[in-house]
Amino acid sequence: MALSDFDLVLFGGSGDLAMRKLLPAMYARDVANDLPATARIICVGRADASQEEFLQTVETTSKPLIKSPAVTPAAWARFTARIVYVSLNATDASSYKPLVEALRKEDAITKVYYLATPPAIFAQICEALKENGLVTPNSRVVLEKPLGRDLASAKQINAEVGKVFEESQIYRIDHYLGKETVQNLLALRFGNILFEPLWRREWISDVQITIAEKLGVGNRMGYYDTSGALRDMLQNHLLQLLCIVAMEPPTSIAPDAVRDAKLQVLRSLKKFTPTTLAQNIVRGQYRAGHVDGKAVPSYRDEPDAPEHSRTETFVAMKAEIDTWRWAGVPFYLRTGKRMADGLAEIVVRFKQIPHSIFNQPTNSFQPNSLVIRLQPDEGLRMNLMAKTPGDGMRLKQAELELDFREQFKSPRMEAYERLLLDVLRGQLTLFMRGDELEAAWEWVEPILDNWESDDSYPLPYSSGTWGPAAASALIGRDGLQWREEVLPED
Ligand code: BG6
Repeated sequence: MALSDFDLVLFGGSGDLAMRKLLPAMYARDVANDLPATARIICVGRADASQEEFLQTVETTSKPLIKSPAVTPAAWARFTARIVYVSLNATDASSYKPLVEALRKEDAITKVYYLATPPAIFAQICEALKENGLVTPNSRVVLEKPLGRDLASAKQINAEVGKVFEESQIYRIDHYLGKETVQNLLALRFGNILFEPLWRREWISDVQITIAEKLGVGNRMGYYDTSGALRDMLQNHLLQLLCIVAMEPPTSIAPDAVRDAKLQVLRSLKKFTPTTLAQNIVRGQYRAGHVDGKAVPSYRDEPDAPEHSRTETFVAMKAEIDTWRWAGVPFYLRTGKRMADGLAEIVVRFKQIPHSIFNQPTNSFQPNSLVIRLQPDEGLRMNLMAKTPGDGMRLKQAELELDFREQFKSPRMEAYERLLLDVLRGQLTLFMRGDELEAAWEWVEPILDNWESDDSYPLPYSSGTWGPAAASALIGRDGLQWREEVLPED
């Protein structure tokens, strides 16, 4: 579907996200000829820079990060001609005149306000846009994470933004939903007859969802130390992945059909009590170690780290969903920084065969599993038992592999490219609705409260490992192992 003409306004336009992700994403879509000829990107910043100075910053900061498609002078010139820099104080409605002047007046031109700013100023920006007459039924607002730090602050954001924009105009970004394989999971579940009948407690033993990063906190300590892995990754990315795995089949791909189904999952998550929480959640903090053979410092020795920080950089937990489909099936969720490997994957493990007809005991059969790899190498892998060639009848684990890059040669889209296109098209399916956001915080809140009132420290783990040993014990208690413990070659 061709996009209609738009003015995309990036608040936080000279910030990290705009430079690293949003402008490169828009460049890629420009090169793919997705953008209308006159569409513009208005970058809003506080700095009193001229248009030329701002473009110079884009040239030195953003351009080098564009790896593919390679930048050509002609395409770069066409792209930068779309960029307009506007300097104003986002929290002062009386300073918005330059933005009013920069925006084209025709209401048919879609206005998208992308708030890549701290959430503390979302409300003021929305109010200021309204006061300056910049909100019409054809405007949209995009909210970047963190969308609150607990239930109360998330509710406040929803209420304040909701005073200015209708829910159908609000796009709450979770960039994991823009990843190709997440959408492929929808295709896998609802575009095939094979899986859905088995997608339930009778046939599935457990589900593991892991997002592991090799990177440390780097220069984001100011933000990260007040957040931690639970808020930064689990409340949003991991829970969204869990929703897509566990939701009931929606009636269509329409936004509210999908979002209703996800909401039902969030509301069915078993609530933690102080006792179950202590048994089912492990939090850790990285210490010095080696990642890819390189020595890396401890979290507390990273620049600007508080000396006695209790912020977790790792969380592993066993969650459960109280529904007929999922009761009793553990969902193990895990995320961490400075881990042994950088990967994001979902592993669905099926139950053991009930009886072996071969001269091999049942427990020598590896239960079937489906591995959905989000990154780095996007694909699906189905593990099956097969006969080893030759004489006799010995069965061994074999793999059916679908490598998306091999299979589909068409160029990939980064998550932000896809999500920005969806915003510009007015397609809400891959964005969180307000009630979903609140339901996710509501479930996480008892954990936050418990950690807040508990003065113990997260468990230390060496950088370059898979986290504290307690994470293995957590899953080991159920007679299971994390995937890398079963398949060390991966
Ligand atoms: C962000 C978190 O939302 O996701 C970061 O704030 C994290 O801490 C990042 O590094 C991971 O995203 P990706 O796409 O690189 O896996």
